[in-house]
Amino acid sequence: MTARIVVYSLTGVTRRLAQRLSGETGMPVSEIRCPAHAGPLGLLRAVRDAILGRVPEIEVVPPIGAAEALVVGGPAWFGRLAPPLRKLLSQARRLPPVVGVIVTRAHAGSGYRIERDLASFLGAHAPGPLVLLSHEVGQPEARGRVRDYADSLRERLTPRAANLPRPPVSPAPRRGRVPVTRRDGSG
Ligand SMILES: Cc1cc2nc3c(=O)[nH]c(=O)nc-3n(C[C@H](O)[C@H](O)[C@H](O)COP(=O)(O)O)c2cc1C
Repeated sequence: MTARIVVYSLTGVTRRLAQRLSGETGMPVSEIRCPAHAGPLGLLRAVRDAILGRVPEIEVVPPIGAAEALVVGGPAWFGRLAPPLRKLLSQARRLPPVVGVIVTRAHAGSGYRIERDLASFLGAHAPGPLVLLSHEVGQPEARGRVRDYADSLRERLTPRAANLPRPPVSPAPRRGRVPVTRRDGSG
């Protein structure tokens, strides 16, 4: 079974986090594109959509295809998930199950409605999100949190996501035999 990361990113921060998670899990990344938020007036339209609670048209590139589970991601805008990600989640019934969520935001603090947004689209069992501040995403310290989240995804997906690499398992030495190393090092 395959799992895919689908991310919206206006300025590249959440995309970078998605790529780090992809590096830990082997999951391929698709992007949510939002034509209305591109170009010179795009940011104005993005702010307007966020303030008015509108969700714009989107496309996913490359398409979700045969993925059987999703990790979705995007930035916080005005305390909520950015509208293009909300648009994707509004179609959750037609999507593979969402098993993980990654979010970036510029500021720490209360007043975020991320969990509430997730519950409204995904129900009471919405996965807990990995939330990083924008400046944390490129830092080496973030690696542990991304790795922990990758581990939790692996547990959630097992045995569904066969595309997630597993830690190498060294064969147990056979009982009663001492491993022999030849002098020429050929084992
Ligand atoms: C329209 C808009 C609204 C935003 N609102 C918030 C906010 O409420 N809280 C916050 O911490 N950051 C806010 N930010 C900052 C982004 O969440 C942050 O820079 C994020 O890491 C950007 O991710 P991206 O590069 O993937 O788009 C906002 C950014 C934009 C463009």
